[in-house]
This record gives sequence, structure tokens and C-alpha cells, in this order.
Amino acid sequence: MPDNIEVMISEEQVNARICELGRQITEEYKGKNLHLVCVLRGAVFFMCELAKRIELPVTFDFMSVSSYGSGTVSSGIVRIIKDLEEPLTDKDVIIVEDIIDSGRTLSFLYELFNTRGAASVRTCTLLDKPSRRDPEISLEVDYRGFEVEDKFVVGWGMDYDQRYRNLPFIGVIKGSESGN
Ligand code: IMP
Ligand code: MG
Repeated sequence: MPDNIEVMISEEQVNARICELGRQITEEYKGKNLHLVCVLRGAVFFMCELAKRIELPVTFDFMSVSSYGSGTVSSGIVRIIKDLEEPLTDKDVIIVEDIIDSGRTLSFLYELFNTRGAASVRTCTLLDKPSRRDPEISLEVDYRGFEVEDKFVVGWGMDYDQRYRNLPFIGVIKGSESGN
């Protein structure tokens, strides 16, 4: 393990929580047309583990967006890097995200998908940093793994400069403050 990183949430804790989320989604999506949309790249590990705990037929798609830094632009402009491959018509979509910070990314996708004919759209995130939310953003989080304090976290798909995504636990860079 890199010595600048300490464990915030262990692999066992993350797995246990994902099992609970999977059970909850399984209960709530019986008879529906469940379609998971993974927000690349950070949410890949979470989505794979979550999907394995959902005991229902499920389809996937992937989307990549980039959010302009909150430091320079506060308008919340999000740019699509890679769009979905299939239409959302009549699908019960759950957007799967690694972590919600300002909330701009997820709020943008939620609004967008609601204009694309989905039967329903809900949001699911492994981590949520509510203290960082942009006050302009109102966002309903339907499924949340853990609430975390304002620290920069890595692992389980989340990176710092593209590194550490493969750590099997959620770690925090020692002495870090969040800031994207
Ligand atoms: P938001 O649009 O401000 O909510 O930004 C969410 C995105 O910022 C997430 O999908 C992550 O890619 C990234 N992000 C926010 N906080 C962290 C963190 O602590 N570690 C790694 N990535 C983060
Ligand atoms: Mg992300």
C-alpha cells in the first residue's frame, strides 16, 4: 500500500454496503426495465460490483463527461466526452457514480436523461460529500453507499491524477483537502 494513503473505508465495509444496495435495488426494481448507466471512469468498479448483487435482469451503458472546474466557472457546465450507445426510451435508468462533490455532474446527467424518454431516472453513488454541494444544485440521491467528510479520496475506481484507481479499499491521501 502506498505510504501516503490511509484506509478510510475497508474493502469488507465497501462490499457489505454494496450488497445492501444491491438487495434494495432488487426489491425496488422487480418487473421493471432496469438499465444502469455508469459514469466513466471512476464508477466502473462500483457498477460491476453492484450489478453482481442485483438479482434481476439488467442492461448497462456508459457515459463519459467532464465537468469544468468550480474554481473558474460556477455555471456548472458539463461537457459530454462519450455519449450513450443506446436510447433510453422506456428504460428505468439508474445513474451510477463514484462520488458526488458539487453535484453538477450528476445533476446534469439527471436532467439530460429525463429529456430522453426514460421511464424513470434515479441516482446511485458510492460516496457522497454533502458538505461540498453547490448550493445552486438541487439533487436527489436515491442510493448512497457512504457519506464522507471533505477529504480527497482514492481507490475503488477513484483517482488522483489517474493513479490509485485499483486500490481495493477507499483511501484518503494524507493531509488532503478536497478541491477536485
Ligand atoms: P461533481 O460534479 O462536483 O459532483 O464532481 C464529481 C466528480 O468529481 C466525481 O465523479 C469524481 O470524478 C470527481 N471527484 C470528486 N471528489 C473526488 C475525490 O475525493 N476523489 C476522486 N475524485 C473525486
Ligand atoms: Mg466520476
